[in-house]
Amino acid sequence: MALYSEKVMEHFRHPRNVGVIEDANGIGEVGNAKCGDIMKMYLKIENGVVEDVKFETFGCGSAIASSSMATELIKGKPLSEVRQLTNKAVAEALDGLPDYKMHCSVLAEEAIQAALEDYEKKTGEKV
Ligand code: FES
Repeated sequence: MALYSEKVMEHFRHPRNVGVIEDANGIGEVGNAKCGDIMKMYLKIENGVVEDVKFETFGCGSAIASSSMATELIKGKPLSEVRQLTNKAVAEALDGLPDYKMHCSVLAEEAIQAALEDYEKKTGEKV
């Protein structure tokens, strides 16, 4: 069996929503101390919905694929749903990740949660 699913390879080769949102109102940056990978998520939230999302990831292929898939999963979604997004859901949407690469999907979950917290801090709104 191939180490990585077709979906992981596809999102790694053609990541969606890469870049920066200049007027983002929620930004989350997280890192994994062991591997040194860093992920930054930019959210543009309007009326309780993620209108736009972009990411920058300095990391492994699984981290890039996880970021890409995570942005696809939350784009256009209400914040209550975004809050529930788990790394497992990201990994499942990618048709799985090898066990020792699951932490890469955790970065995506954490970056999104950090961006939501930043949004809460900036706006005083509770998500
Ligand atoms: Fe660190 Fe993938 S090896 S995020």
